[in-house]
Amino acid sequence: MADVTDDALRLLAADAEDPAEVAIEGSLRPRSLDEYIGQREVKTNLGVLLQAARAREEAADHVLLYGPPGLGKTTLATIIARELGVNVRYTSGPAIERPGDLAAVLTSLDERDVLFIDEIHRLNHAVEEILYPAMEDFALDVMIGKGPSARSLRLTLKPFTVVGATTRAGRISSPLRDRFGATYRLDFYTERELTEIVERSAGILGVRIDSGAAVAIARRGRGTPRIVNRLLKRVRDHAEVHGDGHVTEQVAREAMRLLEIDDEGLDSTDRKLLAAIIQKFGSGPVGVAALAAVLSEEIETIEDVYEPFLLRLGFLDRTPQGRIATDAARGHLAALGYEIPPPRRGDSDILPLWEAAGPGAVDE
Ligand code: ADE
Repeated sequence: MADVTDDALRLLAADAEDPAEVAIEGSLRPRSLDEYIGQREVKTNLGVLLQAARAREEAADHVLLYGPPGLGKTTLATIIARELGVNVRYTSGPAIERPGDLAAVLTSLDERDVLFIDEIHRLNHAVEEILYPAMEDFALDVMIGKGPSARSLRLTLKPFTVVGATTRAGRISSPLRDRFGATYRLDFYTERELTEIVERSAGILGVRIDSGAAVAIARRGRGTPRIVNRLLKRVRDHAEVHGDGHVTEQVAREAMRLLEIDDEGLDSTDRKLLAAIIQKFGSGPVGVAALAAVLSEEIETIEDVYEPFLLRLGFLDRTPQGRIATDAARGHLAALGYEIPPPRRGDSDILPLWEAAGPGAVDE
């Protein structure tokens, strides 16, 4: 059982570390804006930016992409480079430890190349300082020598385009944010878009799938292409092992039930998170640090991976006092057989606590 849960966790966590998964994922990625399903507004605006850059024969403006993991930021960076007919280099905030590391990457870029920096909010300050003039003036300021005889030398770089990615734009320092000519927010995909993605991926993988099965997978995909593609692969395994490989709606539902993914697409960690708020903290409000401790998860993982979709489903509210599990969440878990104690803060909390509870009832 623990294995199933671990598997389900990995399936839904929307990270991309297993090399085999990365390879298959690569084959499913759209290669042009035309092939890219969803994010219509981003596609339209990006299309104009790229067409203009191509017409001027210049490097495109720097582009910042933000939104929850798994929505296609890396894919878009790859598409940007392809549409411009240039190379793309992939790196990430934590991977660039010293200014010299960034200088090495910058000086190796060809004219108009794309530099993709994932988790750009995690660049350290010294590295950011190098990036500012590089992005603004295509200049690299290097210090030569030490002590009183030290001086700064300005090297000219070939024009290039930074595509930065982050889970939240608010995490980026404002001087860095100001250096992006265009900022696009990626949003969760609709069920229709995800259904289209499942059908496209099934076509590429050679999987025979009924439309009801594609919808069932899309419904449980947490608005995220990377997750529906992984679900599709696990469902395909199930169909091959327990049948003739044909993915019917029943096969898809059964496979996802075995993966402990419920009808709303919640996995065991989502349910544990909601159950903790409801059962241990009287439905909230509770601070994210306390939740992270109870669940043995990183605060950042809860905020970036789990919360955005629960917020969108309307299962979670964020208030200045902390996180609250909503009535919808309480109803969802109740239907699954969880014990649901009364909320600490019901409707009565519109009244001051002492009035709602009656005289003498406040013990804090
Ligand atoms: N595969 C993963 N993301 C996709 C997208 N946005 N469009 C088409 N196929 C995809």
